[in-house]
Amino acid sequence: MSTARTIPLWTSTDTPPGGWSPATEGSTLDVAVVGAGIAGLTSALVLLREGRQVTVIEREGIGAGETLRTSAHLSNALDDRYYTLARQHGEDGAKLAAASHATAIDFIESQCRDSPDGCGFARVPGYLFAHDGDVSQLEKEVEAANAAGVSATLLPAGLQAPALLGPMVRFEDQARIDIGRYMRWLAQEVRDAGGRFVRAEVANIEGDSPCRITLRDGPALTARVVIAATNVPVHETDATYMKQAPYRSYVVAGAAPSNLQDALYWDTGDPYHYVRLFRDEDGKDWIIVGGEDHKTGQDDDPTAYARLHEWTLQRFPDAGPFTYAWSGQIIEPVDGMAFIGADPDNDNVFLITGDSGNGLTHGTLGALLVCDLVQGRDNPWTALYDPARKPVRAAGEWMRENANAAFQFRDWIKPASIDDTNQIPLGGGAVLRRGVHRVAVYRSGDGALHAFNARCPHMGCVVRWSSEEKSWDCPCHGSRFEAASGAILNGPTSEPLAPMEWKE
Ligand SMILES: Cc1cc2nc3c(=O)[nH]c(=O)nc-3n(C[C@H](O)[C@H](O)[C@H](O)COP(=O)(O)OP(=O)(O)OC[C@H]3O[C@@H](n4cnc5c(N)ncnc54)[C@H](O)[C@@H]3O)c2cc1C
Ligand code: FES
Repeated sequence: MSTARTIPLWTSTDTPPGGWSPATEGSTLDVAVVGAGIAGLTSALVLLREGRQVTVIEREGIGAGETLRTSAHLSNALDDRYYTLARQHGEDGAKLAAASHATAIDFIESQCRDSPDGCGFARVPGYLFAHDGDVSQLEKEVEAANAAGVSATLLPAGLQAPALLGPMVRFEDQARIDIGRYMRWLAQEVRDAGGRFVRAEVANIEGDSPCRITLRDGPALTARVVIAATNVPVHETDATYMKQAPYRSYVVAGAAPSNLQDALYWDTGDPYHYVRLFRDEDGKDWIIVGGEDHKTGQDDDPTAYARLHEWTLQRFPDAGPFTYAWSGQIIEPVDGMAFIGADPDNDNVFLITGDSGNGLTHGTLGALLVCDLVQGRDNPWTALYDPARKPVRAAGEWMRENANAAFQFRDWIKPASIDDTNQIPLGGGAVLRRGVHRVAVYRSGDGALHAFNARCPHMGCVVRWSSEEKSWDCPCHGSRFEAASGAILNGPTSEPLAPMEWKE
């Protein structure tokens, strides 16, 4: 079970090198890292290299969360724009943001250099182009990016790529990677440095000395330090879920046009589109195109992939055929910066969340920052990423996202879209009313019905059916649940959907 049904281009491994170790009650662990995505594995590696003993607890496989759903740009040309970041975090904050993401790219590059095959890493330029020809946003961004220390130049005439894209900003020193190979390499490095992998689902983490870790089916564990690298925290903490919002983003991949320059491309649209080239292990070139984002559980639209195909073919007419289509969850912090550092609600627990569209670099720099905090060292990025910060200079966005979440509770008073399960097709789902309850009913391919209380266990919104990923998605804070079992796909919920009896 991955976090979604669609299959991305990247492949990693379900089983880490050396296999899974059993979760055993007994002596206190030194460091427990929960989650084997890029944030968790990088944290494990840097702490092992500092002499700590690390156990990685993962419920699925290596990179099985959002990491393998990425498009794998590595960029310090941040998609929230430097003129916005400078307003929200000050000019010094924007400089720290640029430097921290550049450090993350350098770190990844050095790991790839040590790997046997380079993990498909390459330095490439990045091009931000105006989706409507309006150059004013680009002019502001060139000035703000250079002020923050990111080398950027305005190309008013754009670029023939092969259709004319432009006008645009060119950013130097961005990068791309084969994220599947990189995750396999990180896992190997963690194992070689003495790390252990335990396959288990964590139901809760309580901060203390030592911290307590509750497994859903397994013994209780304790650890001196816990790093919650589950993409969004799934343990009891109020630190972040009101300050970040979940979005679904869609990606297609197909044969690359032969004259496409190896670079990252993205536009100024809202939602925006992103494009990159990728050469696989067999030497085949792919074009990867993403976008069409919408809030999770809202605006479910099965035409997203068709729109991406159309958008791509208008600009890259020789692209395709497209053989991959997948979606994933992006967590947008209201002020553009991830939440990385000490969990204010739990002693000795550290968070890495709020990845945004730059989650590979956020996850990597998050590991470097958390390592310093765990080791008791100062780090210049601490305040910028502090999970306890109040994003007051992004108050408008903060209020908008929370008002949007509160508005979703109206589902409790809206009539159900259908009133009879006979109307649910094979492989379909719907929320029905039964007295005061809402019931989420899925009909699997064999005709069997699977019914759950539709009340999201996180804070009580009514979940909605995703026709694309065939999952139950909460429109409030983005928790997602598997259609037939109600198991958790994405937090912040720490509980699965509750099963209910249903007779046709
Ligand atoms: C479509 C898309 C395109 C993107 N493109 C880019 C891009 O080009 N560049 C970029 O920098 N970023 C991009 N991102 C963002 C980036 O991919 C993610 O932010 C990043 O991979 C998140 O890494 P993570 O380690 O925080 O989380 P994850 O990779 O989700 O890892 C979390 C791990 O925790 C495990 N887990 C969860 N709950 C539990 C539990 N209770 N117990 C045990 N284990 C648990 C999961 O199984 C998972 O393996 C993109 C994201 C998407 C969806
Ligand atoms: S995710 Fe918060 S109520 Fe569902």
